[in-house]
Amino acid sequence: EKGTYPHYMLKEIDEQPFVMRRIIQKYQDASGALTIDKDIVNAVLEADRLYIIACGTSYHAGLVGKQLLEKWANIPVEVHIASEFSYNMPLLSKKPLFIYISQSGETADSRAVLVQTKKLGYKALTITNVPGSTLSREADYTLLLHAGPEIAVASTKAYTAQIAVLAILATVAAKAKGIALDFSLVKELGIIANVMEMLCDAKEEMEQIAREYLETTRNCFFIGRASDFYVGLEGALKLKEISYIQAEGFAGGELKHGTIALIEEGTPVVALATQEHVNLSIRGNVKEVVARGANPCIISMRGLETDEDRYVIPAVHPMLTPLVAVVPLQLIAYYAALHRGCDVDKPRNLAKSVTVE
Ligand code: F6R
Repeated sequence: EKGTYPHYMLKEIDEQPFVMRRIIQKYQDASGALTIDKDIVNAVLEADRLYIIACGTSYHAGLVGKQLLEKWANIPVEVHIASEFSYNMPLLSKKPLFIYISQSGETADSRAVLVQTKKLGYKALTITNVPGSTLSREADYTLLLHAGPEIAVASTKAYTAQIAVLAILATVAAKAKGIALDFSLVKELGIIANVMEMLCDAKEEMEQIAREYLETTRNCFFIGRASDFYVGLEGALKLKEISYIQAEGFAGGELKHGTIALIEEGTPVVALATQEHVNLSIRGNVKEVVARGANPCIISMRGLETDEDRYVIPAVHPMLTPLVAVVPLQLIAYYAALHRGCDVDKPRNLAKSVTVE
């Protein structure tokens, strides 16, 4: 039920802080430590490489998950779009483990790969929001998102839940390998839930940004580097699917290799700046587009901000910024679609679960 909310999407955006807290609870043992089924941890540790397979928003969560698993648990990870993988399979490592990320657990493109990899004898772990879904039943192992039903076609709380569960998997795998991490994920996810709450309280500000930048535009670009690039891809997908504005996410450094030709007087460019090690270079990219007439909307993180930034997100763990940076982008997409008179929860041409290849 959407209760007092005008749309499921807005309700589901608002639920994200609760979902973070529920995920922490569901994955805590009696002593409060994060824990994951022993068989799943063993399967991850026995693998010489993880292959994450997913579509759309779940693919974008996988890109963030790769960074967490590689940096924290030191496990090599590849992330593949399911429909590409099934017809263009890469050379596999000797002992792969396949991880299927799917909110619905019913996506046909992902299932097609699961059928293939099972035939080849490889183990599979499904990360899904729906217990008993096809991908969960057909995989060897399942991790649940505990996000509650996601009704809006545009995925929001499932994306952040997927990243949180991948973060838990990464820290639990790191611990099992004897790798010491210098932070508590329980504490960091708690901070993230609080920051998400603040961002959800900033709706008027996000509505204002949507008005200022997106009311009449034909297109919009999202740029970022490192994990901000991945969040930009997700921000662009959200915006295009519900507002029908042509939106594209790009790695900041790639602009000059072609895309910058599309920047005209007034073109909105949303730039994400939450990563210290690339802060100067992304700001350089903003200067490049501004010099061609772009209308920049810089969203940065506290500690990295400058006077020109449109919105500054409170600081969180630098590896977990996608969990908070995506929230303003979800809200901006929501209000852009609303102002343009679009059917927010049921965009044209799209279905909630895509059960055809
Ligand atoms: C975008 C969106 C889609 C899904 C994709 C995969 O907002 O919802 O891109 O993420 O169709 O769906 P699942 O995760 O159910 O496999």
